[in-house]
Amino acid sequence: MNWNGRPVLVTGGASFIGSHLVDGLVERGASVRIVDDLSSGQLENIKEHVDAGRVEFIRGDLKESGLAKKAVDGMSVVFHLAADHGGRGYVELHQSACALNMMLDQLVFDAAAHARVDKVVFASSGCVYPNGLQTDPSQTVYLTEDSVGPPFDADNMYGWAKLMGEMTLRAYCQDRGLGAASCRYFTVYGTRGHENHAVIAMIARAFLKQDPFDVWGNGEQIRNWTHVSDIVAGTILAADRIDDGTAVNLGTMERTRVIDAAREVLTYTGHKAEIRLLLDKPVGPMNRVADNALAARLLDWRPKVKFVDGLHRTIDWYFGSKDRAKLAADLERKLTER
Ligand SMILES: NC(=O)c1ccc[n+]([C@@H]2O[C@H](COP(=O)([O-])OP(=O)(O)OC[C@H]3O[C@@H](n4cnc5c(N)ncnc54)[C@H](O)[C@@H]3O)[C@@H](O)[C@H]2O)c1
Repeated sequence: MNWNGRPVLVTGGASFIGSHLVDGLVERGASVRIVDDLSSGQLENIKEHVDAGRVEFIRGDLKESGLAKKAVDGMSVVFHLAADHGGRGYVELHQSACALNMMLDQLVFDAAAHARVDKVVFASSGCVYPNGLQTDPSQTVYLTEDSVGPPFDADNMYGWAKLMGEMTLRAYCQDRGLGAASCRYFTVYGTRGHENHAVIAMIARAFLKQDPFDVWGNGEQIRNWTHVSDIVAGTILAADRIDDGTAVNLGTMERTRVIDAAREVLTYTGHKAEIRLLLDKPVGPMNRVADNALAARLLDWRPKVKFVDGLHRTIDWYFGSKDRAKLAADLERKLTER
């Protein structure tokens, strides 16, 4: 796909991932429109582009009457990232808020189909995978796309909404000829990330020199943290190469235990603290790692950033840009809110 001058919408474009996607699209010469209600996104993430007149920014809630239609008007590609979403604490404690994503996704997809855009790319999630496959950290399991099927068993209302989003989009594809792809993101981290996700929460605790140093759960949970630059690359490739609504994993196959990530944060930051395991906190699945063979085959996508390198870069950014006093006053709230 030639991105130069192509009119592209990024919903939720002021978010952590959305703003990095906007950077990638601007770099490729696309003509980008962002719609975001700033409910968790931040204007400062896109401020440079907005001030320079490189992107068009519409602030608003896409569930409001008529906004989705206005947003997609004249667009060739729609990257739909807007969602009521947060980290583990948020998605477990805010079920009805996450359920609203079904309405939001439907409005955006329907508007896109009516406007006859060329392509919709949906930011889905590893949360669509059956919980039952992810309970045993002693197993070496890689989640393959075809393991999402009857009997469905998604991760909280947030995961069900992402699953419905994927299925709705595929239905628009089949019934209405809408070009589409879904990308299942796995635990994304990097600059501009939020404290409500584990990696940034750990970095924030080290920044505040917390001792004892809290880790949610027993630390045995396994994740495949995936750097935001790899997610952006895969998302843009999906727009290019998938038409039929196929859902593809975007995640590394590196298996990292939460406790090992915490130790690496302590070592790299030079913070000597006793680790305290908080067993009553939300922990999510014990073993969630993607298989990424389908993305390699369909998109020629392979993650480039090793976890330890991406983690160090993210720590450098965080330590170089945050204010200790402000963070100390607000960290507890940030862990479970958006
Ligand atoms: N961060 C992850 O690890 C991860 C993993 C899987 C999927 N995702 C998905 O990626 C997308 C981006 O997530 P993120 O982590 O960058 O942060 P995020 O949750 O802050 O992004 C959502 C963005 O959508 C905006 N938004 C929410 N509701 C809206 C509405 N009704 N109208 C307009 N804008 C609205 C928010 O202000 C925010 O900018 C989301 O769809 C999320 O579900 C993220």
